[in-house]
Amino acid sequence: MEKALLIDLAKIAGEARNFAIAPFSNFQVGAALLTTDGSVFTGCNIENATFGLTVCAERVALFKALSEGKREFSKITIVTEASKLSLPCGACRQLLWEFCGDIEVEIINLQGGTVLKRVKELLPLPFDKSNFSHR
Ligand code: THU
Repeated sequence: MEKALLIDLAKIAGEARNFAIAPFSNFQVGAALLTTDGSVFTGCNIENATFGLTVCAERVALFKALSEGKREFSKITIVTEASKLSLPCGACRQLLWEFCGDIEVEIINLQGGTVLKRVKELLPLPFDKSNFSHR
């Protein structure tokens, strides 16, 4: 059995959500990003008084992984409380595409709802380094 199958990303992302700092939106988000070597990096959303410096759970998880040298990913799981399943924002879609490629994006809510997407579905016509090909 693959190592990844033993990892409960939903549980890990749900636990990360408990660390969310979201006093302004009161919308707590947790994320668990799986690398191809089987490690998991967690993230939660972090808000601050200027609002604009807020960082989403997905980007926290991604930057933690990148800053520890990870470059290959297979899946990200995101947990929110939203009854309408809450897909990653545009900024996160861009960074997931650029740094993770077309990985699986699993969205889960606390009511047990779940949806599985691919980054390419969420960002079908991306801008990325391939656009620099004229150089
Ligand atoms: N948020 C995330 O952490 N991930 C998403 O995919 C969407 C939004 C956060 C940002 C902010 O702290 C709160 O949710 C409301 O937008």
